[in-house]
Amino acid sequence: MQATALTLGLVGIDAHLVSVEVDSGRGPSAFHLVGLAEAAVREARVRVRAALKQLEVELDEHVITVSMSPADVRKTGSAFDVALALGILGALGRVDPATLAGVVLLGELGLGGQLRPVRGVLPALATARRLGVTRAIVPVDNEAEASAVTGVDVLVASTLEDVVLGLRGERALRPAKMPGASAGGSGCFAADLAEIRGQHGARRALEIAAAGGHNLLMMGPPGAGKTMLARRLPTILPLMTQEEALEVTAIHSVAGLLGAGAGLLADRPFRAPHHTVSVAGLVGGGSPVRPGEVSLAHCGCLFLDELLEFGRATVEALRQPLEDGIIAVSRARERAVFPARPLVVAALNPCPCGYAGTLRCTCPPDRVRSYRQRLSGPLLDRIDLQIALPPVEIADLSFAAATGEPSAVVRERVVQARAAQAARASSGEVGARLNATLGAADLARVASPDAAAERVLRTAAEALGLSARAFGKVLRVARTLADLEGATGVGAPHVAEALHLRLLDRVRAPAAQNATVG
Ligand SMILES: Nc1ncnc2c1ncn2[C@@H]1O[C@H](COP(=O)(O)OP(=O)(O)OP(=O)(O)O)[C@@H](O)[C@H]1O
Ligand SMILES: [Mg+2]
Repeated sequence: MQATALTLGLVGIDAHLVSVEVDSGRGPSAFHLVGLAEAAVREARVRVRAALKQLEVELDEHVITVSMSPADVRKTGSAFDVALALGILGALGRVDPATLAGVVLLGELGLGGQLRPVRGVLPALATARRLGVTRAIVPVDNEAEASAVTGVDVLVASTLEDVVLGLRGERALRPAKMPGASAGGSGCFAADLAEIRGQHGARRALEIAAAGGHNLLMMGPPGAGKTMLARRLPTILPLMTQEEALEVTAIHSVAGLLGAGAGLLADRPFRAPHHTVSVAGLVGGGSPVRPGEVSLAHCGCLFLDELLEFGRATVEALRQPLEDGIIAVSRARERAVFPARPLVVAALNPCPCGYAGTLRCTCPPDRVRSYRQRLSGPLLDRIDLQIALPPVEIADLSFAAATGEPSAVVRERVVQARAAQAARASSGEVGARLNATLGAADLARVASPDAAAERVLRTAAEALGLSARAFGKVLRVARTLADLEGATGVGAPHVAEALHLRLLDRVRAPAAQNATVG
């Protein structure tokens, strides 16, 4: 007898329908599995056999042949277990094969027949809906995540027996209905910009970064607040849209990082990989392919603390995703694409001892120079804002000193500035939604400086020896400064401030070769 069960296989944060066709016949016990099943899927035979035993279904004296299609796509992971078990039960006549039609089954089986949660349920169900499949059964521990998907009737089950009885109509399975976090989040974070004392320049740079989508580099002594500032970037970004929240949740789900009970992620992510992170850890890889830090930080902040400690190859690997906003990870017969559009914040000390520019510095000048020379290359080209932080002033640390603006107030300005950019993009004036990604033609249309600004730019370009690329960056940042102010055109003050936010050009300028920046 034959039966077919449906399930879903993950490819990146996408999925595809997998048909599990099962044929059973009498004969010496055998269990064949065809259709590019990887080791983890082949192991399913052991789990399924044990789980079926709990239902008093013995596979001895049976020849079970399972074919998973499409046959040319690798099948990996343990999410196919339940479909496999139900396909077998259908083929054995223990479940009516007709009840398996049009319902996707997801879940790993424990040896005792329990349904274990699997990763990628949210993107898998989103695919099911797109493909017109409207019914699904998932493990109860995936309920919160499954509740975030609309348009599919999802039932939850705790055991294989639940699934069997549910399909037979002998036990009512509960619909997945857990109130997930609402998209956009509460806007309340544990951290707030108000906690940062002093550091007005850095707070301003953080606001500009958030407003225009510009990557930011902070150079400053230990304890100046670099890590503290970076952690607060997500708190001043606009609240996530439903679409963004779904995408971010899907990435975390595929990575297996959604805890049981976690529904739609509401807050923008903050990821701070250690500098010993591998290339695969940073941009994605492994088998099965999982998203890396750059994708986990999608729509949020990727913080590279101690930038110079990261391996060259690691930093180099960020170049493509930062350029394209996506990362494609290819392995034999498997190509996964993950979104990867974080805001990058990098931090470093100004010299090996950390105190260049102050009397405490113990580094000989040539060590400072060679340390700074390592600060170049492809990543730096993609960082529009580069600032130096002074040590925090003692007076600012006094509890009597006024605290800075809270995140919610800053976020309001960021939202306004982003609305101006979005309006230009939707009217077709420019091709990018954020100033940081404006192309050359876009720049000419919306960021061309007025006469006074042009003079400032020319003078600075000569003094600093600005490259054409740096020129473009200054104008992109100047455009964001104008947007933060609600100005239509780019004027001299915008250009001057944008130039001031390019620390490294100033450090490298011929006239400043011997100067110290602290
Ligand atoms: N501007 C600030 N306002 C309030 N507290 C601050 C500020 N800067 C630093 N601190 C305090 O000092 C601690 C260390 O700050 P933080 O870790 O952000 O420094 P850092 O610049 O990242 O240093 P490092 O170079 O050692 O990584 C913070 O936890 C905070 O308590
Ligand atoms: Mg730090």
